Amino acid sequence: MQVQLTVNGKQVSVDVPPNTLLVQTIREHLHLTGTHVGCDTAQCGACTVILNGRAVKSCNVLAAQVAGAEITTIEGLAKEDGTLHPMQAAFKECHGLQCGFCTTGMVMSAVDLCNHHPKADETEIRELLEGNICRCTGYQNIVKAVVLGKTNMAATA
Ligand code: FES
Ligand code: FES
Repeated sequence: MQVQLTVNGKQVSVDVPPNTLLVQTIREHLHLTGTHVGCDTAQCGACTVILNGRAVKSCNVLAAQVAGAEITTIEGLAKEDGTLHPMQAAFKECHGLQCGFCTTGMVMSAVDLCNHHPKADETEIRELLEGNICRCTGYQNIVKAVVLGKTNMAATA
């Protein structure tokens, strides 16, 4: 079936079987491989994207269910000139990653968190990120990065 989406500001049309997951559509049909698949069962958060303004686990959604939606993936965060999004810059500055596998999902969830909970303190940030798992267990620096990223996002809003 044909599914129209707006991905990172561009309108796209993909021809996918009706049972195609959104994450498969993003990775295999649109070749945006920054969105990762860790578990495929809505546990780890590696596949997180922003769908119509909210973070979702794209392994838990069919592309056909979200026809017409606006989606932002990690590739859509930085500016065209390569300037990192404030949250990406904060992860870089705070060394908020080790192997990097969870990182794109963490960053997308962190952006969503800051958009919807701009006053979240460190404890709330830890709770709000509970859907994202880091197998390298580098949570201390991830949380530091989100705290800094929240400040950076507020400063550039
Ligand atoms: Fe989607 Fe793990 S791959 S939550
Ligand atoms: Fe390796 Fe999080 S940095 S899984």
